[in-house]
Amino acid sequence: MKILAIESSCDETAVAVVEDGRKVLSNVVVSQVDEHKLYGGVVPEIASRRHAEAITGVTDEALNRAGLTLDEIDAIGVTYAPGLIGALLVGVNFAKGLAFAAEKPLIPVHHLRSHIAANYITHSELKPPFLCLVVSGGHSHIVAVDDYTKMRIIGRTRDDAAGEVFDKVARTMGMSYPGGINLDKAAESGNPLAYPMPHPKVADGPYDFSFSGLKTAAINIIHNASQKGQQVVTEDLCASFRKAVVDCLTENLFKASEEYGYKTIVAAGGVSANRLLRRRLEEECNARGYKLYVPELSLCGDNGAMVGSQAYYEYINGKKADADLNAAATMSIEIG
Ligand code: KG4
Ligand code: ZN
Repeated sequence: MKILAIESSCDETAVAVVEDGRKVLSNVVVSQVDEHKLYGGVVPEIASRRHAEAITGVTDEALNRAGLTLDEIDAIGVTYAPGLIGALLVGVNFAKGLAFAAEKPLIPVHHLRSHIAANYITHSELKPPFLCLVVSGGHSHIVAVDDYTKMRIIGRTRDDAAGEVFDKVARTMGMSYPGGINLDKAAESGNPLAYPMPHPKVADGPYDFSFSGLKTAAINIIHNASQKGQQVVTEDLCASFRKAVVDCLTENLFKASEEYGYKTIVAAGGVSANRLLRRRLEEECNARGYKLYVPELSLCGDNGAMVGSQAYYEYINGKKADADLNAAATMSIEIG
């Protein structure tokens, strides 16, 4: 089954063709990041406009690269939640038009479920059940993936997402948007013990995260130094902050794996590209004899291929939308 899949939840206009959930026939991603950089973050109005301008061309290109016509496609998948509402609506409305004009089934896909599915493309042998750390710009969850479309949230952030705090601390240090990747690079040559960081715990949620205090601690170090006319050592602060975030993420993840008995660990979302996180996950999984799966780097960020993969499993499970499909800015991964 060949699915044409559309993703427009944030600042990437992406369309892919994926066969039977695992085989990528084409995967075209057009990023708007250079424009949003000018403003230090994603400007929702601009994102919607750029999606509307790009989506037809990106879809044509995805079909071309797959060597297929729309007639040869079996279904249309589309990200419908969560994300920027105006941005999501561009993809959803385009997908609806395409599906109904070409008389193809329309499959709505939850954005975070699709991030998890990036792993099905990278690892052909991977199947649920497993425990997944889903870390993106807007979400940080520990999710028990019991089946392709059956998920339970075991832990979640109570405030900021991991990607969000990486971006905010990076921006305060003068790094351009999205700062997470730049902070990660700078941290590679820094001393992670140079700046003491808090280790926030959530008293009534053993697997939940809280990153906003950690973010404030890092930002205060930068501001205090500048008030005294001093400079922070960028690499050291990046390394100290990155270590603190990764400590929190991995500590709760492995506590949950032990408590719930999962021996297969998966990472998903933009932050799963983080170098320290990937190294730490590998060390911790090796030490416990667990299996670890992380997406290939090109599939960590937003893309259409992951949507095409998850759409296949949603379709098999009976999910289909009609012309009244709407986008939603928020939606639990459990509902999907
Ligand atoms: O999953 P994603 O592409 O979009 C959302 O669904 O939010 O995640 C984007 C987030 C951004 O916050 C970005 O800074 C972060 O992932 N990110 C990283 C790295 N690469 C991307 N954060 C830390 N280290 C990285 N190497
Ligand atoms: Zn994403």
